[in-house]
Amino acid sequence: MKQFLIPHLICPACLPGEIPLEATVNRVEADDIVTGDLFCKKCRRRFPIKDGIAILLVDPDGCSGAQRRYEESDTVNRYLWSHYADLAGKAEVAEANAAWGGCLVDNALAAFDAGCAVGRLTFEMAAKSGWAVGCDLSHNFIRTARRLARERRHSFSLQLEGNLCESFHFELPADLRSDNVEFVVADALAIPFARHTFQQISSLNLLDRVSYPLAHLYEMNRVAQSADASFLFADPFSWSTAAAPEERWLGGTAAGKYAGRGLDNVRALLEGKDKVLSPAWKIIREGCINWRMRTHTNHREIISSDFLCAER
Ligand SMILES: C[S@@+](CC[C@H](N)C(=O)[O-])C[C@H]1O[C@@H](n2cnc3c(N)ncnc32)[C@H](O)[C@@H]1O
Repeated sequence: MKQFLIPHLICPACLPGEIPLEATVNRVEADDIVTGDLFCKKCRRRFPIKDGIAILLVDPDGCSGAQRRYEESDTVNRYLWSHYADLAGKAEVAEANAAWGGCLVDNALAAFDAGCAVGRLTFEMAAKSGWAVGCDLSHNFIRTARRLARERRHSFSLQLEGNLCESFHFELPADLRSDNVEFVVADALAIPFARHTFQQISSLNLLDRVSYPLAHLYEMNRVAQSADASFLFADPFSWSTAAAPEERWLGGTAAGKYAGRGLDNVRALLEGKDKVLSPAWKIIREGCINWRMRTHTNHREIISSDFLCAER
């Protein structure tokens, strides 16, 4: 974990209190803490840094069944394809990547990408910001994103047809920097950063995957600056009881507090409904972006995510 993160970290177990974490460094390479831990002097928890990966989870063993598939190497490869195949000469993902990047503001001081997977948007944020950090529950995603930041090139393979595989190789272009980007294992429902840390925040295709969607929005709101902040929110609203019980969905039901369409409910919450998210946000752009996942060479999944760009 790069040392520049240390002053911004707080204990996720002590929320809503914000207790800074103290770093113990056992092994460091350049500015990267390879082994050490982050200590909370209030609850006395130690959050490990192993192989450079900071694990900032309250319950490190609490991975749900639905989440486990994000640890599988085939899933990692499918996300690598979705995030980076344009850099391997496959133009079909370029439009979505350019569209997400086009929703980010220039010159943010600090940026946060919740549920970053293998990190393409986090790199795009770092290119436009002072520094950027991505968080994900999946150790395998974070390990892959950190390795990419270190080596700046990566090879992976996906099914071509039947037992045949197709290999992909890509390199990060110079504008996708490594020096100001970091990836940590952390929960988007207990974000280990102090309030008002980030000028740019993003939650891409995550809301319908978390166990408590409203808590996720609340946490994103907490870590965003209270003024001069920008929020890129997007989701396909594929609500599922595998991720969250129906009474916690923010849409997709006929009755209940958040009956109706998820996009309408999230827009209303951002605009200050019930004062859950305060100060209120102003929606400056909205639309829909189609992005792709590949299974084999003749099979693609196209997912349509509604997005909102909000400012305050
Ligand atoms: C559908 S994927 C989207 C990934 C990426 N944002 C994108 O749009 O390609 C959902 C991601 O959220 C992560 N995730 C799920 N629940 C999470 C949580 N509570 N905190 C952090 N990440 C989470 C998963 O591991 C996965 O990487």
